[in-house]
Amino acid sequence: MPRKLAAGNWKMHGASAELAEIRDLLGRIGDTGCEVLICPPATLIDRMHALSKGSPLALGGQDCHMAQSGAHTGDISAAMLKDAGASYVIVGHSERRANHGETDAVVRAKASAAHSQGLTAIICLGETLEERDAGDTLGVVEQQLVNSLPDGVDGTNTVIAYEPVWAIGTGRTPTLDQIAEVHDHLRAQLQSELGAETADDIRLLYGGSVKPGNAAEIFAVSNVDGALVGGASLKAADFGGIIEALAAAG
Ligand code: PGA
Repeated sequence: MPRKLAAGNWKMHGASAELAEIRDLLGRIGDTGCEVLICPPATLIDRMHALSKGSPLALGGQDCHMAQSGAHTGDISAAMLKDAGASYVIVGHSERRANHGETDAVVRAKASAAHSQGLTAIICLGETLEERDAGDTLGVVEQQLVNSLPDGVDGTNTVIAYEPVWAIGTGRTPTLDQIAEVHDHLRAQLQSELGAETADDIRLLYGGSVKPGNAAEIFAVSNVDGALVGGASLKAADFGGIIEALAAAG
């Protein structure tokens, strides 16, 4: 199993002034034993890469196009992210699925594009509140997982992030039992798709209102191998607290 992963998704936040947060973060992460990733706006990857050279901080994009180049105004390719210094890219975040109509097939093609450039794809999935209330959570995430996974997936090139849509940016989180139920189900599904050896190497992140105050209890849940963190990753002090909790979870 690759090292546990604390991933920060800055979304559409951050400009030059926020490079100070990265300097602060670099001072905190030292030798934590877990992997630390920031996915800033694409405009900052290059400068963060220069700042973090020689440090354990990894950088990632928040999305990529399924093609490596072409007439796609406003889009960014996996090759460009890699060139700027990224080693990861988030695909299929629920904000992309909702705001840009991204289907599982699109997410799968984007993950495949990421792999072709040697980037690790963080494939996001999760149910809406209506789907949870209807008792459909496990069926929904299973479908998203099966339909979003490209060929050739392994623990090096792919991470799965379970992010209930209703928990993102709301301050609400599922109960620990609910998180365990979904993560155990995703692990079992990966095992049946890929075989136990490959499946057990794939990190399963929880995302949605993770904060320093709830991180330790979430990291103690079975099959939780880290977190994908939005709001609380913007401040080095908060993200540092989450990283410490992950390191302590062992
Ligand atoms: P949040 O976002 O931590 O602000 O809830 C998580 C995410 O969207 O990845």
